[in-house]
Amino acid sequence: MIKKCLFPVAGYGTRFLPATKAMPKEMMPVVNKPLVQYGVEEAAEASMTKIAFVTGRNKRAIEDHFDVTYELEDQISGTSKERYLTSIRALIDQCTFSYTRQTSMKGLGHAILTGEVLVGNSPFGVILADDLCVGEDKSVMAQLLDVYEKYRCSVVAVEEVPLSEVHKYGVVAGDVGDDGVIFINDMVEKPDKGHAPTNLAIIGRYILTPDIFDILRNISPGKDGEVQITDALLQQARQEKVIACKFKGKRFDCGNVDGFVAGTNYFYQKMKHAES
Ligand code: G1P
Repeated sequence: MIKKCLFPVAGYGTRFLPATKAMPKEMMPVVNKPLVQYGVEEAAEASMTKIAFVTGRNKRAIEDHFDVTYELEDQISGTSKERYLTSIRALIDQCTFSYTRQTSMKGLGHAILTGEVLVGNSPFGVILADDLCVGEDKSVMAQLLDVYEKYRCSVVAVEEVPLSEVHKYGVVAGDVGDDGVIFINDMVEKPDKGHAPTNLAIIGRYILTPDIFDILRNISPGKDGEVQITDALLQQARQEKVIACKFKGKRFDCGNVDGFVAGTNYFYQKMKHAES
């Protein structure tokens, strides 16, 4: 059983300035819930209840969100407003939360390596809260877990994107197995259109085996001078095996305004539908 899920949340959120000047981008609300809460709910749904954040300056609101707010809760206790806190209270009861700080921004691979102190020596999930996912029958992380349980190796979620968008993602190529999973044999971080091996883009959901830490410790910085998880995973794929899984469901890239608005509309409609 994988119990731990790592959330790298130290990034600045520059695409949402000025909104993110004093507030973490992960706290931006999609309807009435911050982005990061959707991610933690997804982890908890996959039974990953030990939540580990790699955080940074200006991110304290995340810690406060996953804690009891005594005065507020006391005030609204017994009133009709209490129900608004049901979802976050349930998560706080179900999960534990731990934090470590990334003191310099050296890329996603570096952020994940920073989380080693929280994750230890067992396989773990990684959720990038910017990618807001809605699974078809089960959450995207739960889908990755099914693949992990079968193959016992690192697993990444991928989706087909237009070639004009591949430069925003890690892109994978590989051999398709009988059950539809892809055994990765190539990966490139943010290629230009002409150099992309396929249009299969990694989205912000991973299950990683802990040997990834040694690889991350030893690889040289890659694209944009940053330590890239994509490069580490390619090395792992060559040494052993890494699988890409085309998940069933939707993903909203809430790291940019268009995706954020699309995600907001989707969850707003869903809420209205549930109310009617
Ligand atoms: C990161 C990864 C990239 C992946 C993407 C998914 O990029 O480096 O491989 O495709 O997350 O959201 P970022 O969006 O942090 O630039």
